[in-house]
Parts: sequence; C-alpha cells; structure tokens
Amino acid sequence: MIDLRSDTVTTPTSAMRRAMADAEVGDDGYRDDPTVLALEAAAAERLGKAAALYVPSGTMSNLIAAIVLGTPGGRLVAHKDSHIVLSERGGAFSVAGLEPDLWSGVSPVPTVDDVGVGFGKGPALAVVELTHNALGGRAAPPEAVAAYGRACAAAGVPLHIDGARIFNAAVATDTTVEALAETAVTVTFCLSKGLGAPIGSVLCGPVEVIEEARERRKMLGGGMRQAGVIAAAGLVALSTMVDRLGDDHENARLFASHIAAEHPEVIDPAVVETNIVRLNVAPSGMPPAAWVAALARLGVRTKVHGTHVRAVFHHQVSRADAVQAAAVVCTVARNFSTATRPARGAA
Ligand SMILES: Cc1ncc(COP(=O)(O)O)c(C=O)c1O
Repeated sequence: MIDLRSDTVTTPTSAMRRAMADAEVGDDGYRDDPTVLALEAAAAERLGKAAALYVPSGTMSNLIAAIVLGTPGGRLVAHKDSHIVLSERGGAFSVAGLEPDLWSGVSPVPTVDDVGVGFGKGPALAVVELTHNALGGRAAPPEAVAAYGRACAAAGVPLHIDGARIFNAAVATDTTVEALAETAVTVTFCLSKGLGAPIGSVLCGPVEVIEEARERRKMLGGGMRQAGVIAAAGLVALSTMVDRLGDDHENARLFASHIAAEHPEVIDPAVVETNIVRLNVAPSGMPPAAWVAALARLGVRTKVHGTHVRAVFHHQVSRADAVQAAAVVCTVARNFSTATRPARGAA
C-alpha cells in the first residue's frame, strides 16, 4: 500500500526511536523534564519567539491560543475553510466562546481588499493557516503574511498562525519559519505531520502568553509527565526532517504532472505548492468516495476531501511510489470514464 491519506500516518524514524529510548526524562508538571525543556527552547528559537509550550496536538494548541488570545463573545476572524473552523469540533466557539467572522478566497492570507475584514467590530482574534490544508497545501509569501500581521496589530487584533505545516510553507516560499511568524503573536506547528514525529505540537509566543497557555493546557488535561520520551522524537524531527520537506513537494508535483499528462481535468500541476494534492474527480461523474475505494483496491490509500480526493506526500513515500500512485490514478480515471460513458446509440 502507498499511503497518501495524510502526512500524519508517518511513523518515527530509527533515529527518533533511538532518541526516545535514550531520552532523559522528569516530571514536566514540575518543569523537571530536560528533554521537553530542550524541545521548547529549540522551537522558540526556531520560530523567533521568546517561549514555547509542548502540547499533545495541533488542535489543543489552536484551542489554547483561542482561549488565551481571544475574548469570550469576541470574534474569530479566519478563512471559512480553515482547520480551526471546520475540523476541531468547534472548540474555539464552544470552549473559547468566540463567534465566527469568516472570510473566503483562494489564498491562505486575506488580500489587501479583505484586510478590513473583522477589524473595528470589537475584540477579535485573527487566525491564518500555513500551509492551508483545505486549499490544497497552499503557502503564502512572507510579505503577504507580514502585511496582514501588521494590519492586525494596527487594529489591536492578535494574530495566531496555525502553522501545522509552516515548515512546508517556509520551504515552498524559500523563507524561514521565523520570517513567516514574525508579525504573529503566537504560532503553533506540528511535529507529527511532515516532520514525522509520533506525537505533539509546539505553541510559541511571548513569555507571559506561554505562561498563561501552560495553565490552559493543564485545564484541558494536556499537562504531561515524563513527556521527554516523545519530545525526544520532536527534537530529532526538528534537526533532521525539515531540510528534506522539499523532496515531498517534488514528489507531489511529479505525481500531479504524471496524472495531468493523461487527465488534465483531474489536476493542474501548477496549483501544487507543497505536499498536498487535491484531485478534481467531479468530471468523472463518480463521487470522491468511489475514487478512494477504487484507488485503495489498487494499492493507493487517499482521503475524501470535500468534493475532491486528497493525496499527501511524506517521507515514507518515495519518488517511485509517486509515479506508481499516479499510474493507479490514471487507471481509475480510465475505468470510470469507460463506466460512465453513455453507451453507443444511447439517448
Ligand atoms: C492545518 C491544521 N491545523 C491543525 C491540525 C490539528 O492537528 P492535530 O491532528 O495534531 O490535532 C491539523 C491536522 O491535520 C491541520 O491540518
């Protein structure tokens, strides 16, 4: 099986497993775990923030940011299809008490025309997602993020970056995660996606915000004890897995271009910016679930993504796998076009 459902399916590398076995640990509730402290320090430095907090998941990290930076009854200004809006079971609304104030568009960052959105209407928290999952892993130029961040700051609206895949965004736009996060108050990134660690995200921001975040993590049940066992894999992820993310982007483009050579209606390789490819299966007349089932029967696992089928590239998918998976997609496309073509002479 070639597993393209998500980059979350990655399993720890042998270097990670060794680091986990050898990790020095302590009770992180007492700030006694040296490996967690080392991971938090490394993450804060990398993202250019004063402090960081290791949390069990990206969802919890976003929720903590919504609680700490948001105001109950105030607004959450975000893309209508962002993960925090659609996929986190409404925590920002039901737990943090925010009201949705959503914008749309094909960029992860509002355009200059949209910058007024959400400002001047009372307290608000702005969230930008990098890369943007539902938009097919789209990145954004650092200047666009900075322009929005400055507009947020001028309006007194804190900006949180859901950077679950911010390292992919930085690689794709040839910049640093620090530059992308510069104008945000907080930024979270996931260790457990393309970076390949088994568990965890890190929330980075100013010292006082992270101190408050630590309290909220405790409230949510996310305080951990000898978490150095998993944080050790996160340290290995940061030091060994970032520089190779470009390979995943290349494999994603290769996959897309092999499909487009035969079925240009399914994917335009020009829209593939990072490790996520969304296949437009609508022209086949077959629902995305039928595609996912047919691809799985031929050895390629994918996921229904709204009206599309999603394929995500990661370090356990080789270049040869990408080519093979594209051939399978073409086979399914051909089979479906035969199955749905009206019979000769039919009305
Ligand atoms: C953009 C984005 N943000 C947040 C998350 C949540 O991460 P987790 O699965 O660790 O809760 C995801 C997970 O897929 C994501 O894609």
